[in-house]
Amino acid sequence: MRYQGREVDVEGRVRLVMEGGLTARDRVGVQDFVLLENYNSEAAFIENLRRRFGENLIYTYIGSVLVSVNPYKELEMYSKPQMERYRGVSFYEISPHIYALSDNTYRAMRTERKDQCIMISGESGAGKTEASKKILLYYTVTCPINEHMTNLGDCLLQSNPVLEAFGNAKTFRNDNSSRFGKYMDVQFDFRGAPVGGHILKYLLEKSRVVHQNHGERNFHIFYQLLDGGDDDLLTTLALERNPQNYNYLVKGNCPRLSSVSDKNNWKVVMKALSVIGFTEEEVQKLLNIIASVLHLGNTQFGEGEEGETYITTETQITNLAKLLGVDVSALGAALTHKKLTAKGEEVIIPLNFEQAMAARDALAKSVYGRTFTWLVEKINQSLALKEEIYHSGKGCSVIGLLDIYGFEVLQHNSFEQFCINYCNEKLQQLFIELTLRSEQEEYETEGIAWETVQYFDNKIICDLIEEKHKGIISMMDEECLRPGETCDVSFLEKLEDTLGGHPHFVTHKLANGKTRRVMSREEFRLLHYAGEVNYNVNGFLDKNNKLLNRNLKEVMRQSDNQIVSHCFRRKDQKRPEMAATQFKNSLMKLMEILMSKEPSYVRCIKPNDAKQPERFDEVLVRHQVKYLGLMENLRVRRAGFAYRRHFEAFLQRYKPLCPETWPNWHGRLADGVSTLVNHLGYKAEEYKLGRSKIFIRFPKTLFSTEDALEAKRPEIALALQTSWRGYRERAKYQRIRRAVITIQSGWRGMKARRRAKRRRQAAELIRKLIKGFIYRHEEYCPENEYFLDHVRYSFLKNLRKNLPKSVLDKNWPTPPPSLVETSEHLRRLHMRNMVMKYCRRVQPEWKKQMMQKVIASEIFKDQKDSYPQGVGRLFLDSRLEREQINLKVVQTLGNDKVQYGVSVVKYDRKGFKPRPRQLLLTNTFAVLVDRTKIKQRIDYTALRGISVSSLSDGMFVLHMPNEDNKQKGDVVLHCNHVIELVTKLAMMASKVNTVNISPGSIRFVVARGKEGIIDFVRGSELKVAKGKRGHLLVIAPQINIT
Ligand SMILES: Nc1ncnc2c1ncn2[C@@H]1O[C@H](COP(=O)(O)OP(=O)(O)OP(=O)(O)O)[C@@H](O)[C@H]1O
Ligand SMILES: [Mg+2]
Repeated sequence: MRYQGREVDVEGRVRLVMEGGLTARDRVGVQDFVLLENYNSEAAFIENLRRRFGENLIYTYIGSVLVSVNPYKELEMYSKPQMERYRGVSFYEISPHIYALSDNTYRAMRTERKDQCIMISGESGAGKTEASKKILLYYTVTCPINEHMTNLGDCLLQSNPVLEAFGNAKTFRNDNSSRFGKYMDVQFDFRGAPVGGHILKYLLEKSRVVHQNHGERNFHIFYQLLDGGDDDLLTTLALERNPQNYNYLVKGNCPRLSSVSDKNNWKVVMKALSVIGFTEEEVQKLLNIIASVLHLGNTQFGEGEEGETYITTETQITNLAKLLGVDVSALGAALTHKKLTAKGEEVIIPLNFEQAMAARDALAKSVYGRTFTWLVEKINQSLALKEEIYHSGKGCSVIGLLDIYGFEVLQHNSFEQFCINYCNEKLQQLFIELTLRSEQEEYETEGIAWETVQYFDNKIICDLIEEKHKGIISMMDEECLRPGETCDVSFLEKLEDTLGGHPHFVTHKLANGKTRRVMSREEFRLLHYAGEVNYNVNGFLDKNNKLLNRNLKEVMRQSDNQIVSHCFRRKDQKRPEMAATQFKNSLMKLMEILMSKEPSYVRCIKPNDAKQPERFDEVLVRHQVKYLGLMENLRVRRAGFAYRRHFEAFLQRYKPLCPETWPNWHGRLADGVSTLVNHLGYKAEEYKLGRSKIFIRFPKTLFSTEDALEAKRPEIALALQTSWRGYRERAKYQRIRRAVITIQSGWRGMKARRRAKRRRQAAELIRKLIKGFIYRHEEYCPENEYFLDHVRYSFLKNLRKNLPKSVLDKNWPTPPPSLVETSEHLRRLHMRNMVMKYCRRVQPEWKKQMMQKVIASEIFKDQKDSYPQGVGRLFLDSRLEREQINLKVVQTLGNDKVQYGVSVVKYDRKGFKPRPRQLLLTNTFAVLVDRTKIKQRIDYTALRGISVSSLSDGMFVLHMPNEDNKQKGDVVLHCNHVIELVTKLAMMASKVNTVNISPGSIRFVVARGKEGIIDFVRGSELKVAKGKRGHLLVIAPQINIT
């Protein structure tokens, strides 16, 4: 995949656009020395550095090594948008920057899950500490934040001003020179968020506490306290503001710095202490110690007549004892006496004046040095990985930052410079080990054609210093431990005896004439990789032996100030190691730590000695380029390959990029890698395959492969997601299926069991029924009890469903023989119940109706054809409306109210002439009315009977008494409502039993002794006419009664 460059948008997000992203300014010189035409020329190298420096382009690469030149001015290149610009962007895609290196290291840690370290080297004042701060800032700003460690970033950043205040000082070479070595681990969780930190500190230059070279200062904290501390604080500490009043601050004659404000820094430090988690009490105790060091410096001694020493500054010692929390007299005694064990007995010997001064200075150094150690421990506690993260089981990765004092050559170099420069030798050796020698060795073992590059291997110098028994450190220890009179000069002689002739060791005695002139007799010279340094042996043994009187230690151990008592607590160690050996061992451990991690390098260069911007001192830079081995580094880079990887690891990482190797390659690893790179289109000159590794010559090739992988990632993620989801869904489906089958089989089993049970029960039932049927005629016995019960039960159940709904419904299920009686009871009961219910429901008018109908039924039922029709109709109270009855008639009737009225046709007894009339019934009589006139009154008492035919006609005859002459004879009438009328009349007149129903004809009295006959026949329609023999013939319509 061809790479497309990047560009930054307003929010600082990075957008890809090919190298056009580089500004014209960025193109000054070459960004990577590897691209230098004349890569063997030192002049071209320095010219490139100079040109870029002139444009404030202070960073340049040699492959993956970052070369940084101290600009000595603030540059606009460390802002947050700049950080965003470098985030997630490969090295060569963007202009060189400390952020690019930081980001690359971070990404390497995350993607390869390997611990990383960034080694920053360069001489004092070259910008190592600044670089390390920039890296830390980059991580705290750009990395995600772990929810358990939200203030870790602040703690990490704030540890810097605190450690700088206590461990940095102005030196001749650097206004903020680190006087201790610092290795800091930043721990990241699996998501890449910082979760912890740990600081290892190396040998603090304690001698600075009591002495400073001209133009140098003590540690910053003393000046910060005096300048920034408020009056009350100074009073509590019994201090005065002027640093000139303190012996330990006047040696360098440089109380103030133009470049830094002690007052402001004091505020920064105090704030930082509280952010890190120091309590007010701890800060107070810490300041007590700092103040006590100043008082110690002002403690003076006098010499008595007999050579005894005493303290002359009473107030100082009192303040001192108060601040240190110790007994004043014990302290005074311990400062002027020493305790020895001779022949198993303790003896206390007074110190002479010089010894007392030395003891005082030793105490000051020791108190300060141990307090510094305590400070680092305390910071480490607040940076420590929290338990829950540590135990979360998800591994942390680490990025280590090494910022150690730079190589230093002063006018007078002592034990400290010896240690500092030894440390730089070791780091240089590691650099050689990891970059030059191992690289070349690797090409050889891998069988890669290779042009060997010559470089200076400083192992010889390291051995000279550290070799067991033969090295300078061993000899120094031996000299310190040797019984008898030892002094620095005897140590020098011993060195001369043993090391004389070593190519990197010279003394005044061993030197040639020219060298001898620039060396004093107390000096030895080491020819370091970075240059020649003369060390003055004065004080070497003392500093190595860390002399502090035992009784002073004991007094300190008793201190009320917990920091002091903690610092001087007894450690179970037989014989404490000498300072140099201790340093050597700690460096060995440091080398192990660094070797276990993937290294990145920042090589810092100091452009001038005057700490001034825009000054590029070519001689000084050339010297640094030389001793830093940058040219060799470049040559190895150019001749070699930028990147190498074991076949397996390479294949593992990039196999998704080639269909043949994805997802797995089954052949030989080398073939797999070969197939992969062919697919990626690597050109022959871009790579080589070794025996077990692939070597890629240009970073560009690797970066484009990385980009391709990055672009492929979503696809891989998708494939993984798809197969994982598929797997998960399949598993879910299988689970559900199994569950369904289990439920189904359970359910089916249960159903089958139920069915079987039902069948069994049914079979039993049938069996019982059959048996019962066979025995049905027997007495109730076990054989037939079920059958009989069942029959009864079935009958009752059936009965319940089929009970008659009305009294007229006479249906009733046939009972089994055993229930005949019961059935009859029930039937009666039910009928009674229905009747009762019916009766309850009946209204008075309806009751009246009913009574009439009952009477009608008594009279006519089965006797007259028109009965069913007539009884079915509603019997009205009257068939005439009130208005239809003439008022006169009503008046004539008077009190006898008309109960019923109906229109009738009266037939003359003779001639049978029909005449329309009204028949009105009162309670005691009936009247026949012809319009306004009452034609005939028929008293009920006089009524002999009533006759009707059995057919469907409306004829009826009222039989009148025949013995009464006044009566005209029987009355022959026809009414359309004959059933209703006759019923009502019979009821009113109480003549129910005298209603006569004649089938064929009715005889009636025409007049006294004379009878008439009405004949009834069935015909098609009603007709009343005169018939034969003078009879009245009534043809009644046939009624279909069915
Ligand atoms: N990138 C930078 N931008 C601006 N100024 C810088 C930069 N790097 C260094 N300096 C200046 O140079 C001074 C010295 O740098 P620094 O303290 O980092 O040196 P050092 O290599 O740590 O030296 P030492 O070995 O003495 O501790 C700083 O105080 C600062 O003024
Ligand atoms: Mg520094």
